[in-house]
Amino acid sequence: MKTFYIETFGCQMNFHDSEKVAGTLAALGYREAGRPEEADLILYNTCSIREKAEQKVFSRLAQLRGRAAEGKRLAVLGCVAQQEGLRIFERAPQVDLVCGSASYRRLPELLTRLEAGERRLAGLELLGEDAFETPLVRRDNPYRAYITIIEGCDKSCAYCVVPFTRGPERSRTSAAVMEEARRLAGEGYTEIQLLGQNVTSYRDPSPARWDFVTLLARVAELDGIRRVRFMTSHPRDFVREIVEAIDSNDRLCNHVHLPVQSGSSRILRRMERLYDRDEYLERIRWLKQARRRIAITTDIIVGFPGETERDFEETLELLDEVEYDALFSFKYSPRPNTAALTLDGQVPEEEKGRRLTILQEKQRSIQLRRNARLVGEHQEVLVERYNSATGQWVGHSAENRTVNFSSPGGPADDLAGRYVRVRVTRAGANSLVGEWCRDPERT
Ligand code: SAH
Ligand code: SF4
Ligand code: F3S
Repeated sequence: MKTFYIETFGCQMNFHDSEKVAGTLAALGYREAGRPEEADLILYNTCSIREKAEQKVFSRLAQLRGRAAEGKRLAVLGCVAQQEGLRIFERAPQVDLVCGSASYRRLPELLTRLEAGERRLAGLELLGEDAFETPLVRRDNPYRAYITIIEGCDKSCAYCVVPFTRGPERSRTSAAVMEEARRLAGEGYTEIQLLGQNVTSYRDPSPARWDFVTLLARVAELDGIRRVRFMTSHPRDFVREIVEAIDSNDRLCNHVHLPVQSGSSRILRRMERLYDRDEYLERIRWLKQARRRIAITTDIIVGFPGETERDFEETLELLDEVEYDALFSFKYSPRPNTAALTLDGQVPEEEKGRRLTILQEKQRSIQLRRNARLVGEHQEVLVERYNSATGQWVGHSAENRTVNFSSPGGPADDLAGRYVRVRVTRAGANSLVGEWCRDPERT
């Protein structure tokens, strides 16, 4: 039997794309191999968001030349494929297929042709029509399912490659999304995560014309669905109705990821983020004034060209003001085609590193403080698996915190896939520890 191995880099969109690719390959008669050495077809689904991510795929390809590549077929998919295109064949002649993330609608056809023996295949158009949809999805997680609702990005943040690698925005029809969600609920999935580079720009292209808030509410109404999440929201398109929807519907998870990038309005303008500090903080106020506690997480870039010490301090002050529940922070990385390449005031690498460390240390103490407040509280956890190394179950709260907890019977309690109540006994910066509270009515 033919076998494939796929390695995925980057964001959840990429992970979900890989699930679609794996499903497509399974329909072609492939079986998934546990290791690349055992596979006839190796696929890399690549990310180009920062230079380091891009380098990873080229180092993988360097390992896979000569004898190591003999008898194997090799495919490069995703954002680096879209960005580098045919140049990948020059840098790595052992590659047989290059398909960019804005051309995925062609992927089933290209995989079929690869399978039929064709070589040096490329799908590199920036397709601006429909998103890539397929019923053939091999999902990695049996309880939480991703659903793409919108692909691409029409913004043009000065640092970002995504508009070049993912193409223009294409929303799926509300009927297609609902059909997929209904099917997943029927298959036993209880948590749905709606995905897009900018879910808040979702516009139903069908005459039904649902907006994002309507879609959220309707998915949450489906029988069997207990949790609905969404990722990523752009502050510019983040409307108050989203907070109202979360507030009035327990099935909508009380967690919003709202990337700010910088706390300085001057830098936000240079980044072309389309909001300033005050407008961002207004959205934070909506979230904090909600009746339910809503966890807020964000992304920050340090060392964007022109960022002064003062600008950076404004970012630090923003962390104190918002008190994020979690934060993903990055050193600015210059990317091909982007507007920021030509800006003056590039910040030296060591300085970026210094700022990143200060930022991360500050956030760590904020998280420790915030999480400590949860000790003694109960959290509802969707249990994902038993970790035999630690003797604890692992799951996530609605606020998206990782929760590790013990149960009297250990693995014999058979909790995977269930929603259970956990009493928090300890809190770290990045996770909670607790114990299972048997609740006969709810579990
Ligand atoms: N669509 C999302 C972000 C997607 S990219 C949004 O608009 O918020 C995920 C994160 O990667 C971004 O939020 C940003 O913090 C980071 N990022 C993007 N380009 C980057 C670059 N050139 N250098 C460093 N970090 C970058
Ligand atoms: Fe990139 Fe900006 Fe689009 Fe987000 S909104 S994907 S950061 S261009
Ligand atoms: Fe990376 Fe492409 Fe996602 S660049 S972050 S894989 S959209």
